[in-house]
Amino acid sequence: MDIKTAMIERRSIRKYKSDPVPDEMLQELLEAARLAPSGTNHQPWRFIVVKNQNVKEQIQAASFNQTFLSQAPILLVCCADLMTYARDTRKRLQELVDAGVFGPESFDIYPDIDKPKDANTLKAFIPHAMLNVALAVEHISLRAVSLGLGTCWVQLMKAKQISQILELPEHLVITALMPVGFPDQNPVPRPRVSVQDIVYKVVD
Ligand SMILES: Cc1cc2nc3c(=O)[nH]c(=O)nc-3n(C[C@H](O)[C@H](O)[C@H](O)COP(=O)(O)O)c2cc1C
Repeated sequence: MDIKTAMIERRSIRKYKSDPVPDEMLQELLEAARLAPSGTNHQPWRFIVVKNQNVKEQIQAASFNQTFLSQAPILLVCCADLMTYARDTRKRLQELVDAGVFGPESFDIYPDIDKPKDANTLKAFIPHAMLNVALAVEHISLRAVSLGLGTCWVQLMKAKQISQILELPEHLVITALMPVGFPDQNPVPRPRVSVQDIVYKVVD
């Protein structure tokens, strides 16, 4: 399936068959996430793969009881690992410098690169980290279509409660939930505004 077809066919799926998702397919989804681009190639995405029914139900209860969350055979809890910004920046930047992507002067952009970062300093990275995680999650969503799977982005959730359920460390910030399974519905396309509406202006 080409990318355009996957984009056209993708829907938010809120009803799933009980058939399990084969492990090879799950690996394909995680591989799609792994290939996503990220700022300074930090790759901050981390996933908790929840298959346990009881845990899925607890997460659902902490997510305004959106019933499809526990119905899907797999629930991905998609997180940003803020620790990557404390630990990996020099390594990631060096890789890019070695590859000739950036010049060595690009280290000057990060004057605090080796400075230890406390939890509060790391919090400043949350918007950037979540943006990167979103790219990986959408890769998953489109790859799922090409495998005949359905997904749904879910952000209506109480992230703190879910962190407690999963006993996540503070440096893992939940960005979204993504149920994964074989669709048991075939929704019509949802409306979209026109291309004309999304081009704010053209600067010639
Ligand atoms: C960041 C984000 C958060 C969303 N959160 C939820 C959610 O919590 N629950 C839900 O049912 N759908 C959620 N959606 C799905 C949207 O409602 C859906 O993408 C939109 O209505 C368009 O429909 P489509 O995805 O089928 O094209 C979310 C989508 C995105 C991108």
